[in-house]
Amino acid sequence: MNLRKRLLLTNLSLLVIPPVLALVLSLAVFLPLASLWGTPVSFSEVEGALRMRASLFAAAAAIWRESPETAAREEFAWYVASSLGDLPAQVLVEKDGTQVAATGPLRMADLLDLGIGDPLLSTRTVTLKGTRYVLQSQRLAFGDGSTGAVHLLVETGPETETAFAFAVFALGTLFLSALLTSVLYSIRIHRSLASPLVRLNDAVSELRQGRLDREMLEEGDEEIRQVIRSLEALRLKLQESVDGRERVDESRKRLVESLSHDLKTPVTSIRGYVEGLLDGIADTPEKRRKYLETIRTKAEGLDRMLDDLVFFSRLELDQVPYDFQPTEPEVYLAACIEENREDFARDGMVFSLENQLSGHPRVCIDRDRMKRVFQNLFENARKYRKGDSGSIDVVLRDTPDRVLLEVRDSGIGIPPDSLPYIFDRFYRADASRSRADGSGLGLAIARQIVEDHRGALWVRSREGEGATFVVSLPKEPEDA
Ligand SMILES: Nc1ncnc2c1ncn2[C@@H]1O[C@H](COP(=O)(O)OP(=O)(O)OP(=O)(O)O)[C@@H](O)[C@H]1O
Ligand SMILES: [Mg+2]
Repeated sequence: MNLRKRLLLTNLSLLVIPPVLALVLSLAVFLPLASLWGTPVSFSEVEGALRMRASLFAAAAAIWRESPETAAREEFAWYVASSLGDLPAQVLVEKDGTQVAATGPLRMADLLDLGIGDPLLSTRTVTLKGTRYVLQSQRLAFGDGSTGAVHLLVETGPETETAFAFAVFALGTLFLSALLTSVLYSIRIHRSLASPLVRLNDAVSELRQGRLDREMLEEGDEEIRQVIRSLEALRLKLQESVDGRERVDESRKRLVESLSHDLKTPVTSIRGYVEGLLDGIADTPEKRRKYLETIRTKAEGLDRMLDDLVFFSRLELDQVPYDFQPTEPEVYLAACIEENREDFARDGMVFSLENQLSGHPRVCIDRDRMKRVFQNLFENARKYRKGDSGSIDVVLRDTPDRVLLEVRDSGIGIPPDSLPYIFDRFYRADASRSRADGSGLGLAIARQIVEDHRGALWVRSREGEGATFVVSLPKEPEDA
């Protein structure tokens, strides 16, 4: 529920529930009891009883407004009696135990047995000479230290009394149900508003202290849920950026490690061979030639690696201009495959090309750069083949707005714990390190190039079951 609705509903309920509850309870409880007692209550009785009490109260107020001396005068007693209108009322005034005014047949002597105490204002029901009265006594304290009282007596009957009791009961239930309703609503508002806010505040404090791993659970009203949702999104973003930073740190660490390892290994081995030559260990011309050839191969590898590194940093710094040209993927890939077919066949690698494209979509690519992508994918398929042969199946597919170029191989596959890292620069799965030469830059470069084409490069693989790399590129609009 949203907050506005809840507040509106709460206010409405506070207005409606107590009176309805009071009415229902009074009707359901009091009325049957009253008829059981033999004094059924009619609404005109209730109205009359309430009017009588109100008139008595108004008279008391009028007496209070006057000085005790004025209030004790006979004319005032008559005035009060007349202010009670058509109520069957009498006023008795006493001073120092002596009656000073009486507007009806009753006398002070009739009241003496009642044992009227000394309250400021008291109201009770009494029976005098066989008639029931509501007696309201009001104390007077005169300037000369003496005391007195004004007694208002209004004739009443069991119906009026029951009606008044009904009114008191109804007002009591009204008050209690109003209290109960507001307590219940306070509890509900506390649950739906205050508690979630307190928990939200705790969660924000945790965020501030950098604890980003506690998920914020949605609770409370819609508005609060929205705030929680936004904060949860913020928390995830923060966590992502912290994770991202940790990954960058990690990859930088790996970069330094790999650089020192991958650059140092060939250099060390070149040094070894050079020393072998200098020390005369290579003592025959064939041996010397073998040493020199090894040195050349290692130096070439080193050179390639440095080239890759320079190329990659230029790519990353956006320093490589692209020459995009609309290209038909099936023609382009067929040419890429032809260029490599013979060389790869020497290593037992067989190519196939399957065209599942709908029509002849075109992609806008820098053909030389994109060749580097596929060259690396093919090289990887060859390097990480199983045994002495393997297949490279290139499959072309498309969706309404993208062309998918898949390179599937039948090689050793990629272990699940390496999958997230193979596109990181210098990352090489453990098995690859001992197996084949390489810098671990190939896929990082490939992904960078594909992304510079507004495309994406990803992989699917299971260890031991080959790997499928997918290059996804946006289709050129038909009329371009
Ligand atoms: N087709 C594949 N089959 C199995 N593992 C693969 C395949 N392609 C890549 N890998 C794994 O991913 C790692 C990274 O590949 P990448 O092409 O970036 O580096 P590399 O081939 O080792 O070196 P480089 O391409 O720079 O010469 C590889 O070392 C290998 O562990
Ligand atoms: Mg490679």
